[in-house]
Amino acid sequence: MDKFVVKGGIPLRGEIATGGAKNSALPVLAATLLTAQPVVLRRIPQVRDVRTMQRLLVDIGANADADGECLRIQVADVRSPEAPYELVKTMRASSLVLGPLVARAGRARVSLPGGCAIGARPINLHLAALEQLGAQIQQTHGYIEAVAPQGLRGATVRFERITVTGTEDLMMAAVLARGETVIENAAREPEVSDLAALLGKMGAQIAGAGTSTIRIQGVERLGGAEHTIIADRIEAGTFLVAGAITGGDLTVTGCIPEHNTALITKLQAAGADVVELSASKLRVRSSGGLRSVDVNTAEYPGFATDLQAQYMALMTQAEGIAIITESIFENRFMHAQEMARMGANIRLEGNQAIVAGRKELTGAGVIASDLRASASLVLAALVARGETVIDRVYHIDRGYEKIEGKLAAVGAQIQRVE
Ligand code: EPU
Repeated sequence: MDKFVVKGGIPLRGEIATGGAKNSALPVLAATLLTAQPVVLRRIPQVRDVRTMQRLLVDIGANADADGECLRIQVADVRSPEAPYELVKTMRASSLVLGPLVARAGRARVSLPGGCAIGARPINLHLAALEQLGAQIQQTHGYIEAVAPQGLRGATVRFERITVTGTEDLMMAAVLARGETVIENAAREPEVSDLAALLGKMGAQIAGAGTSTIRIQGVERLGGAEHTIIADRIEAGTFLVAGAITGGDLTVTGCIPEHNTALITKLQAAGADVVELSASKLRVRSSGGLRSVDVNTAEYPGFATDLQAQYMALMTQAEGIAIITESIFENRFMHAQEMARMGANIRLEGNQAIVAGRKELTGAGVIASDLRASASLVLAALVARGETVIDRVYHIDRGYEKIEGKLAAVGAQIQRVE
């Protein structure tokens, strides 16, 4: 298993590039199941979750040709409308194939995801929504079996809780359903809008993506399309924190500044200097002297839960007490204990972490427990005195493309060792 060895204390300086969004690439890849025509996707990030989704699509019947960040996928026939446990257990987003498979093939068999390091993460809301469109759903032997022999029909579906992949799953089912579907209390994440943009190019009729109410007029069939994935706002946000925590001067390129407004507001309140250099460039500077600022995670446009761990690393270096409230997932504080091993003063109380700073961090052996927790440990290590060894970095490879190379290019001392 790979590890990162990081020597901290170097301010990061220079330009660092953002890649395509993992959480956009995954639903967009699943959407290729909705047509027999080829779909060409650009700026596909080379991360493990994306490779897992590609494997799943090929198992289902896709032909996939990759050329760097460009991927051409064609699902001429759905050979096997199934997502096996072996894949779903490594990537919960596999459940994104459920909606498109039922819509295109009239049936799907998808393994139920098991527990997850950050919380229970059930898919009950996806299932209830598909049932409202007329799918019949059964659960046997750890699998969800969904059928719609007469096809799906539009309905008004109100999500009782905002769910990102649930909204995406339902949107993909509804585009081929008969009549109109209205999704209420829909997720407003930019990744939902990006998926809607691709579906629109394929011929779907969708209005309101990016708002809480999405209206979809079902169409008979969808065609091929070309689409470029949006920038990864979580990767960009991680780099902004990297610039601020190391007291550096970092320009994050290829990003969409408005997708990071909630983080930028907090960074500025904490005393970092963040400026928008252009529509795709953000510069962050800090000379230390950060102040503690509370954060409460929320659905978009609120502060992303996927940046909570990274922000916690930053708050260990801020003067005062910061209360970090995690409102989306019930168990997303695994990084706190690892940061404590590096010298951070963090107390956990239910869904709140109370971070008392500033504490000098010192290098230690730590273990990455999930994707964003791993990123936060890298950030903590970048500012810690001495050497930190981060174990199980396969978690970080699920969602960050060559993060060690990108960070090293702006001055970090970080090495991957086997
Ligand atoms: N929920 C249910 N039932 C459902 C679906 C969700 O109770 O059927 C609950 C979840 O347990 C959670 C809350 O609703 O407490 C919100 O979960 P959501 O469904 O929005 O999360 P997700 O769609 O499974 C996506 C991202 C996550 C990100 C969350 C929240 C993808 C592929 N994944 O997950 O990304 O944290 O939205 O923004 O888009 C990551 O990239 O590290 C990551 C975990």
